[in-house]
Amino acid sequence: MIYLDHSATTAVDPRVVAAMQPYWTEQYGNPSSIYGLGRRAAAALEDARSRIARVLNCQPAEVIFTSCGTESDNLALRGIGLAQAACGRRRIITTPVEHHAVLHTAAELAEHHGCQVTHVAVDRHGLVDPAAVSEAIRPDTALISVIYANNEVGAVAPIAEIAEIARQQGIPFHTDAVQAGAYLSLDVQRLGVDLLALSAHKFYGPKGVGVLYVRRGTRLFPAQTGGSQERNRRAGTENVAYAVGMAVALELAQADRATEAVRLAALRDRLIRGVRANIPEATLTGHPTRRLPGHVSLIIHGAEAQGILIALDLAGVAASSGSACASGSPTPSHVLTAMGFSPQEAMGALRLTLGRENTEADVEYVIEKLPAIVKRMRGVIG
Ligand SMILES: Cc1ncc(COP(=O)(O)O)c(C=O)c1O
Repeated sequence: MIYLDHSATTAVDPRVVAAMQPYWTEQYGNPSSIYGLGRRAAAALEDARSRIARVLNCQPAEVIFTSCGTESDNLALRGIGLAQAACGRRRIITTPVEHHAVLHTAAELAEHHGCQVTHVAVDRHGLVDPAAVSEAIRPDTALISVIYANNEVGAVAPIAEIAEIARQQGIPFHTDAVQAGAYLSLDVQRLGVDLLALSAHKFYGPKGVGVLYVRRGTRLFPAQTGGSQERNRRAGTENVAYAVGMAVALELAQADRATEAVRLAALRDRLIRGVRANIPEATLTGHPTRRLPGHVSLIIHGAEAQGILIALDLAGVAASSGSACASGSPTPSHVLTAMGFSPQEAMGALRLTLGRENTEADVEYVIEKLPAIVKRMRGVIG
C-alpha cells in the first residue's frame, strides 16, 4: 500500500514505541502516588513536559497534557470563553475554515453560554487577512482562534501577524497547530500566541494524546474537573506512557523538520505538476506556495471523490477527500465552500498527503494511475 493520508494520521515511530514501553508494565505508577513507583512516573511525566516545552520555547508549567487535539481545542475555546464570559466578554473571533473541534465548540458556547461568534471570511486560498481580523475586534472580544495549517487544503496562515494584532488589543489568541507539528516552527515566543493545540498522532506519535500550550497569566477555566492534575486545569490521572511518546515523537519530528520539509516539498510539487499535466480537470486548492510541505489538495471537476478514493484503494493507494472526520460522510467540505467553491465542486475534493515513508516511486505511481481513474469516474457521472 502507498499511504498518502498523513494529514489523517501517521504510523507510530518504533523509537517512540520503545520509549513508551516501560510505562505500561514496569513503571506503571500513578504520578500522584508518593512512593517510588509513583514518583518515577511523575518524573517521567515532568521530563516529557520539559522536552515538549523546549520545542515550544516555553516553560514546562505552560504545557497541559490532554487526550487529543480535539480536547486541546475544546479546552482552549471553552476554558478561555467561559473565563472571559465571566468578565462580560463574549465574542469569539475565528474563521470558517477551522477544524470542527474549534467550530463546534464555538457554536456550543454560542448556543448555551451566550457567546457571539464572528467568522472572518477567508480568500480563495483559504487564508484570512490579518487586517480583516483586526476590523472584527470589538470591546467585548474574548478570544481569537485561527488555524495554523489547514488540514483540508494545507494553507499556512500568517499566525505571527494575527497574534501581534491580538496582543496589541490584549485579547488571548489561540492557534490550532495540529497539522503544523511535524513541519512548521512551534516557537510560541516567535509566533506570539497565547494558546496552541497539538496532537501526537499527526507526527508519528500515538493517537489519544495532545497538548495545549497556555501562556502564563492567561485565565483559563478547566473543561474537566476532578483531581488537581495538570495544575487544576485538566483533571484525570495522566497518561504517562503517551506523554512520553508524544515528547519523543515531537523531538524526532522537529529534529528532521528542515530536511524533511525540503524533501516532501519536492515530492509534493512533482505530484502537483504530474497530476495537472495529465488531468486538465484538476484544480489545486489552498495556497500555491504557503502550504504544508507534503500536502496536495485538488478538486477534480465533474467527478465524485468517493469513487476516486475507492478506485485508488483498489490500486493500492490510501488517500482521502478532506479531513479524516469528513471522509465517509458525503457532504461537501465546509472549508472548500468557505473558500468559494460550489458544493458540487467540493464533492470532487481529493487530498494526497505525503510523509516520511513516501518515495519518488510512490509519486510516479500515482501520477501514472490517477488519469485513467479520473476518466472512468467522470464517465460514471457524465
Ligand atoms: C487541524 C486539526 N485540528 C484538530 C484535529 C483533531 O485532532 P485529534 O484527532 O487528535 O482529536 C485534527 C485532526 O484531524 C486536525 O487536523
